[in-house]
Amino acid sequence: MPKMQSFSVFSVQLYLLLSLMLGVLEVSLSQEGFCTAPSILKTDSNALPLYWKVTNPTLSPSHLQDLPGFTRSVYKRDHALITPESQVFSPLPAWTNTLGAYLITPAMGSHFVMYLAKMQENSKSGLPLSDAERFIFVLHGTAVLIDASGYTHNLNVDSYAYLPPNSTHHLNCEATATLVVFERRYSYLENYSTGLIVGTTDKQPLLETPGEVFELRKLLPTSLPYDFNIHIMDFQPGEFLNVKEVHYNQHGLLLLEGQGIYRLGDSWYPVQAGDAIWMAPFVPQWYAALGKSRTRYLLYKDVNRNPM
Ligand SMILES: *[C@@H]1O[C@H](CO)[C@@H](O)[C@H](O)[C@H]1NC(C)=O
Ligand SMILES: *[C@@H]1O[C@H](CO)[C@@H](O)[C@H](O)[C@H]1NC(C)=O
Repeated sequence: MPKMQSFSVFSVQLYLLLSLMLGVLEVSLSQEGFCTAPSILKTDSNALPLYWKVTNPTLSPSHLQDLPGFTRSVYKRDHALITPESQVFSPLPAWTNTLGAYLITPAMGSHFVMYLAKMQENSKSGLPLSDAERFIFVLHGTAVLIDASGYTHNLNVDSYAYLPPNSTHHLNCEATATLVVFERRYSYLENYSTGLIVGTTDKQPLLETPGEVFELRKLLPTSLPYDFNIHIMDFQPGEFLNVKEVHYNQHGLLLLEGQGIYRLGDSWYPVQAGDAIWMAPFVPQWYAALGKSRTRYLLYKDVNRNPM
């Protein structure tokens, strides 16, 4: 019996190799009674616009899409994974012609909200609650920011803006745009205040990440006034976090590109572009990038304040 097994493993390997060489892998597998699944060889998305997968996610596994009751979403005490098939959009309070899906809210234990905003034709944003700061990042389309001084800023895909607490502003959108938005009640520090920030990810310098292989950019200043930051983290397939972090900070994460495995506590989740993750303080966390293309994720992290 053991002999037969090793023989059949060998012949399967040989067979796979031959099939690959002939370029008929998919056809031959399905004909020979193997389980079939969509091939990752076909998911090369280089030709698509940046962050296209976030607004056009695979509701995967695609062969389970119509399985009643199936979802990859998970909600636990110290973390949540909200996958695109679970997002529920409804009109955003105070915004016009805009649908929003709240992905992380204080009901989970967070001190911030994270939501997607789908601005339709001729839409306009509302203001955050008083004393709340706001961060927006454009995933699709173009929005125009009119800041407190009346200046306008065109925000295209990969652009972002930070609006200080109580700063009057609004976003206009003539066509369509999709944004991810973070808001939290600002934690004031005597003699310090934050300012308007507008930027694009690709203009931000790569930062040192001692002991790690991923590429890191921070979208906000690291100085004391700012009580959170937004990190953009890039991993090539096969790269993973060295540190298995457990820390007091909380996180809201949106996977912008790629796929991999996220560890949260004792659970290991296959994740892909479009997935959102809530990480409560002290949840063990770790990521490995898999698949054929780079992983990029956007990460909220509270900083610069005494947790007491
Ligand atoms: C922000 O606006 C609210 C409501 O107008 C006000 O009560 C609060 O004092 C303002 N905060 C600051 C720091 O000015
Ligand atoms: C804030 O500035 C004032 C005036 O310079 C100073 O008297 C006060 O000590 C400062 N407060 C803090 C917490 O540094």
